[in-house]
Amino acid sequence: TLHTIPDVTTVISTDSSVAISREVTVLFGSQTGNSQGLAKTLSQKLEGLGFQVTLSSMSDFKSNTLKKVQNLLIVASTHGEGTPPDNAIPFYEFLHSKRAPKLEDLQFSVLALGDSSYEFYCQTGKDFDKRLEELGGQRISPRVDCDLDYDDSAAEWIDNVLANLRGTIESTSTSGALTATGIEKVAEQSAYSRTFPFKAEVLENINLNGRGSDRETRHLELSLEGSNFQYEPGDCVGIYPENSLGLVESLIEKMGWSSEELVSVNKKGEQRPLREALLNNYEITVLTKPLVEQAAKLSSNNELQALVAPGNEVELKNYLEGRDLLDLVQDFSPWEVSARDFVSLLRKMPARLYSIASSSKARPDEVHLTIRTVQYEAHGRDRYGVCSTQCAERLELGEQLSMYVHHNPNFKLPTKSDTPIIMIGPGTGVAPFRAFLEEREESGAEGKAWLFYGDQHLLTDFLYQLDFQRWVKDGVLTRMDVAFSRDTAKKVYVQHRMLEKRNELYQWLEEGAFVYICGDEKHMAHDVHNTLITILEQEGGKSREDAVAYLTEMQQQKRYQRDVY
Ligand code: 2AM
Repeated sequence: TLHTIPDVTTVISTDSSVAISREVTVLFGSQTGNSQGLAKTLSQKLEGLGFQVTLSSMSDFKSNTLKKVQNLLIVASTHGEGTPPDNAIPFYEFLHSKRAPKLEDLQFSVLALGDSSYEFYCQTGKDFDKRLEELGGQRISPRVDCDLDYDDSAAEWIDNVLANLRGTIESTSTSGALTATGIEKVAEQSAYSRTFPFKAEVLENINLNGRGSDRETRHLELSLEGSNFQYEPGDCVGIYPENSLGLVESLIEKMGWSSEELVSVNKKGEQRPLREALLNNYEITVLTKPLVEQAAKLSSNNELQALVAPGNEVELKNYLEGRDLLDLVQDFSPWEVSARDFVSLLRKMPARLYSIASSSKARPDEVHLTIRTVQYEAHGRDRYGVCSTQCAERLELGEQLSMYVHHNPNFKLPTKSDTPIIMIGPGTGVAPFRAFLEEREESGAEGKAWLFYGDQHLLTDFLYQLDFQRWVKDGVLTRMDVAFSRDTAKKVYVQHRMLEKRNELYQWLEEGAFVYICGDEKHMAHDVHNTLITILEQEGGKSREDAVAYLTEMQQQKRYQRDVY
């Protein structure tokens, strides 16, 4: 829950001519909640120092009040291919439009979250930072860009911002010193977290797809006993997987290293044998631009030098696509680099996030996940998704997985249990909807519910078919429409079913239904979004512009929520 502090400004005179505001506005643009969590931590620290803080999602912020803001702190993540998160889009567009006001009195700073394996790393944060400067704002402290492993850089930015903001005023606050900004999750009961994962026992691990399917989807049940983790439908679990032993051994052999050599695994200087470190602590299956550039500095290979040379950006981008560390070391030998030096270039193993497929009300001390096995061929070699392949091929019952619960405030059931919900989740996108319906069944919610589900074949790919059919029978699920794309000559997708039912679907929207989309972002979520626009045009008699505005408003009212990847 967010708190919004009324528009009160306390002005302190540091000398007769300068009046400086103690009011700070903190805005976040967050898809899965990381930026939101950091913005909240920052706000609490500011309040501790006596600042008047207005903390708000960008989508809740009234753009026409921007002109009055004197101190603006932005925490923004970048989504997919460099786009702003859903709840940042209206503010982002406003700021980049002609309507944006001059902001000569504004002081600001931006914290950008992203993933350096994407070309447009931290792009949303960079755009905000640049634009606020163009509009006349002054930086309180420089923008900081954070990779997946954001804790340390984010803490540094927070410390800098706090110190600089405090430096601009004569502090009247007697609160504690400004040191060590640990990024703690407020209100989290558990001692375990992203940076201190819990070892959960595997209680169940089965393939949900039938024999003959092209796909394999694991249904995993983990024990949360002793973790004290709390979760709600819509939340996710982060898993720290183990790299494939084959890949690790090939790397070690190719580089002529020794498996037992000790290397650092964190900034504190903790050490582990190389083989274990490469298995558990480092990412070796993704090449990022910074990694290849750094590796080139340790190599005398001319081709590698050429690849990272200015002017070859497109070539480098193409090279990174679908390749891993083993490709790099094979393609650009010889190497004469110590394991220690090389490992220091690698990113920490990032957790893989999966939407939770169970309700904790229905399953105390358990969490269920739906994990599709990722496997494909690229550049002449079979490639395997690290976490999904581990789950599919080498995770026995009774074994333990390092995991934590990640709260996603942007994918939540309506607060009122009688509000109708429309859920669109083909493939593994159906996972959170199993959680939603378990929860609604358990709590006896009386709201209508409608599921659109799809996959390739009815016979082999209907994930959780028995659960959903039972809910239809029991009335927990009011309607279910399915689209099996490869059972017919012409493909049918969930959006085709939506269009067929557009009359009724529009009525649900007008009755105040919440709409949830989960699953593939690039194609499915995009097409479903456009289908919603078409339905609003055709059934609501709206212009395209009005239909888009209707969806934007739904988004602002949190009636349109997406968990897409
Ligand atoms: P396909 O693989 O036969 O093309 C889950 O992956 C389901 O989503 C599959 O049936 C898949 O169909 C389908 N799908 C693929 N692209 C889609 C899109 N753009 N919109 C909706 N569903 C899509």
